[in-house]
Amino acid sequence: MTAQGGGTSVTEGKAHYSNGPVFSVAPMIDWTDRHCRYFHRQISRNALLYTEMVVADAIIYGPRERLLSFDAAEHPVALQLGGSDPAKLAEAVRIAAPYGYDEINLNVGCPSDRVQSGTFGACLMLTPEVVAECVRAMKAVSAVPVTVKCRIGVDEQDPEAALPDLITRVLDAGADAIWIHARKAWLKGLSPKENREIPPLDYEMVYRMKQRWPDVFIGINGGIHTLEEAQAHLGHVDGVMLGRAAYQNAAILAEVDQRFYLAPAREMDWDQLRDRMMAYAQAHIDNGGRVQHIARHMVGLFTGLPGARRYRQILSTDATKPGAGPEVIAAAFAAVDFSAAPAEALSA
Ligand SMILES: Cc1cc2nc3c(=O)[nH]c(=O)nc-3n(C[C@H](O)[C@H](O)[C@H](O)COP(=O)(O)O)c2cc1C
Repeated sequence: MTAQGGGTSVTEGKAHYSNGPVFSVAPMIDWTDRHCRYFHRQISRNALLYTEMVVADAIIYGPRERLLSFDAAEHPVALQLGGSDPAKLAEAVRIAAPYGYDEINLNVGCPSDRVQSGTFGACLMLTPEVVAECVRAMKAVSAVPVTVKCRIGVDEQDPEAALPDLITRVLDAGADAIWIHARKAWLKGLSPKENREIPPLDYEMVYRMKQRWPDVFIGINGGIHTLEEAQAHLGHVDGVMLGRAAYQNAAILAEVDQRFYLAPAREMDWDQLRDRMMAYAQAHIDNGGRVQHIARHMVGLFTGLPGARRYRQILSTDATKPGAGPEVIAAAFAAVDFSAAPAEALSA
């Protein structure tokens, strides 16, 4: 169960970008680790899942097995890389290839101090020619789509000029899709958290990029809270990416397959989810892990339902106790009154 991914990887190019709209869960450091992605995958079969950003140097010099391995059930899954050295990024792509990711994404949008000091993330918006060289180098060695996640601009940049310039260059370098967080990042003065909240969202700017490049996959991200909002964006762009809303209220993923991938309607089977997460947790514990590594991602699942508080409490306290096992997940689910709400209410 915890073997590295493989088997079902997509190798024929843009598969997940050529079958209609794409719904994705954003890359989030410390949040979208492999356990989180496995959990999300039990709720939506189709959503495109992103890893946390992994720095190219860490893959080249660090514990690559721990950084890159994932469960085959997670497909489709995209690896997000951080870096600004084309040769190192290409090397990271080569090393990651056998793990079977379905896409490689370059982070041009994350403004944390740590990221700035390494000259990657959002500050790369200032050097679009470097981003293009990175994409070109990654494309040259990748059998799967290479995509970019960016902001509309940083600092005093004029997004009307900076964003089309970046897009033009990365497309010329071979980028297969562009995901745009529809707000600027301020590289100085705002914390990463503030940079996800304070700069105003400009969805229209992203829509205009799609009008300008009708044949290019353009996805939108930032401040999207519900599937209704996501659906409305799809009237203008090809993909929607949800970060915090998907993580903090993962139940909204239960309707993704039906709404965006034309899957037959089905009631979410919460008992099955519980059993799968328990089995997954047991396998993780057998490999030397702790149930807490998994339970921490599940805490927000039943927000709003009777019993949700107790559920949360069990997962965030009992799961941290020495020797805690999968029974903690069973106890937490037992605290929730599912009869009180069908799946639609959970995702409302
Ligand atoms: C805890 C956290 C960690 C994040 N880490 C990354 C990251 O590794 N790479 C990245 O491109 N964006 C990262 N982001 C930004 C998200 O991918 C996304 O662009 C942002 O949260 C806006 O989307 P939302 O409003 O749907 O949350 C992170 C966001 C959060 C909340």
